[in-house]
Amino acid sequence: MTVIAHISDLHVGISSFDEEVFLKAVSEINSLKPDMIILTGDITDNGYYKEYMQAMKYLAMFEAPLFAVPGNHDSRNLGNQTFEELVGERSWKLTKDDEFTIIGLDSSSPDENRGHIGLPQRLWMEHQLDTCVIEERFSIVALHHHIISIPDTGRERNVLSDAGDILKTITTHEVDLVISGHKHVPNIWKINDTIVVNAGSISSNKLRGKNTNSYNIYIIDGNFIKIYLNNVGGEKFLFGKYQRKY
Ligand SMILES: [Fe+2]
Ligand SMILES: [Fe+2]
Repeated sequence: MTVIAHISDLHVGISSFDEEVFLKAVSEINSLKPDMIILTGDITDNGYYKEYMQAMKYLAMFEAPLFAVPGNHDSRNLGNQTFEELVGERSWKLTKDDEFTIIGLDSSSPDENRGHIGLPQRLWMEHQLDTCVIEERFSIVALHHHIISIPDTGRERNVLSDAGDILKTITTHEVDLVISGHKHVPNIWKINDTIVVNAGSISSNKLRGKNTNSYNIYIIDGNFIKIYLNNVGGEKFLFGKYQRKY
């Protein structure tokens, strides 16, 4: 059994970061003892170097290994370079026990809000996914921007500009799980054999309507994946349960 905590959209900075909520989330997640934490971007609010320095102190509070991709806010003000210096590679692949693979993609562009993967990164992802198909590994793709519009988020603006091509790659390779953030609204879509999950914001006060800060927990166990929506300091419930396809 593997437990993954999916957090997103911290927005560390002076305008929208709620430290109290973040610290509560850290203690909740640490007590769940996940195998790993995946962070789908907008770690900082403006990509400023000082925000990154502050954010690294917050991220160090998590006890589980953490892997992050950048969001549009992280790639502002040369933040794309700072991300590489302080956080790590902007796109990456990790495998666990030869049984599943997670591919992290950089959907951000410097000083732009739109999401875009681009041909070189897509071809690299396809190559990684080919291996997953051959070896029948559970596959997860993590990126900041949503690949399908999210309900209750107003006018659509920042869905991946090459969403069609990415959806084709993901569905033809039967990716098990796609996880993203950006909209600060949790959601699940199922497309063919792929579950597409959006996380809410873990600690930003930029929230819509009655949404509260939240994160997702994925429990991958045999044929099943369970997705829990955990509101920080509030209700935690089963958000979806699916049977894996081999
Ligand atoms: Fe965000
Ligand atoms: Fe974003």
